[in-house]
Amino acid sequence: MDGIFAYILVLLLFFLSCAFLKKQNRKPETSAKLPPGSMGWPYIGETLQFYSQNPNVFFAAKQKRYGEIFKTKILGCPCVMLASPEAARYVLVTQAHLFKPTYPKSKERLIGPSALFFQQGGYHMHLRKLVQNSLSLESLRKLVPDIEALALSAMNSWGNGTVINTFNEMKRFSFEVGILTIFGHLDTHLREELKKNYWMVDSGYNSFPNSIPGSRYQKALLARKRLGKILSDIICERKKMKLLEKDLLGCLLNQKDEKGEILTDDQIADNIIGVLFAAQDTTGSVMTWVVKYLHDDPKLLEAVKAEQKAIYESNEEGNLPLTWNQTRNMPITHKVVLESLRMASIISFPFREAVVDVEYKGFLIPKGWKAMPLFRNIHHNPEFFPDPQNFNPSRFEVAPKPNTFMPFGSGVHACPGNELAKLEILVMIHHLVTKFRWEVVGSQSGIQYGPFPVPLHGLPARFCRESTSYNYKAT
Ligand code: HEM
Repeated sequence: MDGIFAYILVLLLFFLSCAFLKKQNRKPETSAKLPPGSMGWPYIGETLQFYSQNPNVFFAAKQKRYGEIFKTKILGCPCVMLASPEAARYVLVTQAHLFKPTYPKSKERLIGPSALFFQQGGYHMHLRKLVQNSLSLESLRKLVPDIEALALSAMNSWGNGTVINTFNEMKRFSFEVGILTIFGHLDTHLREELKKNYWMVDSGYNSFPNSIPGSRYQKALLARKRLGKILSDIICERKKMKLLEKDLLGCLLNQKDEKGEILTDDQIADNIIGVLFAAQDTTGSVMTWVVKYLHDDPKLLEAVKAEQKAIYESNEEGNLPLTWNQTRNMPITHKVVLESLRMASIISFPFREAVVDVEYKGFLIPKGWKAMPLFRNIHHNPEFFPDPQNFNPSRFEVAPKPNTFMPFGSGVHACPGNELAKLEILVMIHHLVTKFRWEVVGSQSGIQYGPFPVPLHGLPARFCRESTSYNYKAT
């Protein structure tokens, strides 16, 4: 079967490359030259080099050789990679209209074509406001007790000495937080059905797209269809109840654009699945990195523990729930989160495509080429973050220079879930360090990509409850 996939992949790359070659042969409207770099082999470009080595090493080596702007070709797509803060700002903020978000069609089909991050212009702005409303600080403040209850419930099965896959556990927790933000409290049966089908979509997301019945991709498409049906039933029920809820579903249902038009059920479903997708693996992988970085630095762990124990004690030995204000006043832990975001840089670059020929700093980015600002290279540039490979939260005592720290992106597509992500990570750390000790099992180093970087094998770890138990119970 692998042979068939490889064959289809080669054919697909061939046709993709031909299509792009045609575009490349078009005469550009400017006399600017292409940036330096290598386009690799005919058709496949540098795909093999990219996939056969750590992508960070691949991009860092290119930057060293060619400078902050260089060209390459990956998966049949000619790309200009941009590794300076100014270039990132140019593509994402000041000249964002010259670049559109670009994702493979196979992924769009799984999430839904109307989802926020595939959009541009007026529809994008309209949707974005709705999503931002449901994730405003005022909305998040009210969610603290529920997020805490979810964290406690997720950790219930930890601590009995069995080895757990940290990444999977963190993903489950962030999925539950996603469901809470989207639907408020959802019937258990519906939640389980959503979860079952969502995981099938998730596991087919990075598989090779094909039309072979029974393949992971086809199974994911079928699960996506079922998700659509479940969501349409939930939407129908909610409409009947005529509630004015402030969760994401409420915000999407109770709106009209300037022409007085409402969103269709399909548009709502695509956006719900889009937000779940954007929220889950991202937050889950950052939480996994936090667990690893704290594990690897016992002194830092002690400092975080001391900060969290003080909160625990002021909450009458954990008998009172965490408050919003407490989550906003965890200076050491907050810096650990920021440094984890920088070190792990789980979104190495956002995907953009030039909609016209663009000239930047004397170089041409031809229409149809990908233009990728390299967040990870910027986050690991010693000029902005001295000794960048060293995990050092205290570097955030001073604010980073403008446009050098973009774990949540920048500009019109910047992450609307960034405050929610930080909140759930802080709540998780509070309970983790006040209740558990943990040791990493097996290899302590190594990274896997799926697609976000995660410690190898999802960081298998054994968690043990601390003798002082935490009394506050999830409701
Ligand atoms: C640590 C966790 C997270 C990280 C590192 C992260 C990072 C990002 C980044 C870099 C972007 C911009 C992508 C681009 O420019 O193409 C983005 C967009 C987005 N994120 Fe997040 N995200 C996280 C968590 C969340 C959460 C919890 C939610 C929602 C509950 C969320 C919802 C979204 C959405 C809807 C977009 C698309 C925005 C648009 O296109 O206008 N993210 N995220």
